[in-house]
Amino acid sequence: MKVSRREVISTLATGSASLAVAGFLQPDGANGQTAAPVAKAFQGQHTPKPLPFDPAKLKGLSEKLVRSHWENNYGGAVKALNAIEQRLAAMLTDKDLPAYIYGDLKREELVRTGSVVLHENYFANLGGDGKASGKALDLIKQWFGSYEQWEAEFKKTANALGGGSGWTILSYNMHNGEVHNYWAWDHMHNAAMGYPLLVLDMYEHAYHMDYGAAAAKYVDAFIQNVNWDEVNRRAETVVGRK
Ligand SMILES: [Fe+2]
Repeated sequence: MKVSRREVISTLATGSASLAVAGFLQPDGANGQTAAPVAKAFQGQHTPKPLPFDPAKLKGLSEKLVRSHWENNYGGAVKALNAIEQRLAAMLTDKDLPAYIYGDLKREELVRTGSVVLHENYFANLGGDGKASGKALDLIKQWFGSYEQWEAEFKKTANALGGGSGWTILSYNMHNGEVHNYWAWDHMHNAAMGYPLLVLDMYEHAYHMDYGAAAAKYVDAFIQNVNWDEVNRRAETVVGRK
């Protein structure tokens, strides 16, 4: 059976009703027994995490910008991921559906998962005083020589994404125990086994409302608002796994 892109989109819109057909829900029996729960991978029940700080109190980042980012970009990714998980199950019922069409939605699953995870890390590592300390500062000195050298490389990596899209991520690698600043062009672009310690959103939606095309000024503002307590919490969580 040949399936057009329009038909795929139509399939996406049919929603969870098809889950029962897929066998992810147990059909109601004649005696009215209740349906079994949907398999976890296809439930699509993610909920947005609230902002962990008062968005009116960031330095150099407006409340309007931060609220819009959280609601529209992060919130949109959560909704999309939920829809995708449910539609995957529905599409799986169509035995004639080519694998490459299914693959389109699997790609979207990866994109939206990356967006949700990275946005949650980004917002969680904002709202602080920007003064590095503790385990994270120890790691930075160990791998970059000094805080100043780390900050210079982090900013340069971020500015390399100015005017485009992506993420800058200070990452602890669970494979080899190394710590690096990584350039990530999109939500799927992460170093293998990299555990994010500090995440900076470099998509234009993260700064354009306040800074226009002046991405470097946004990067400076971000550094002033880093919540190093959260970065330290992540470092304490992950260091030693290698
Ligand atoms: Fe974003």
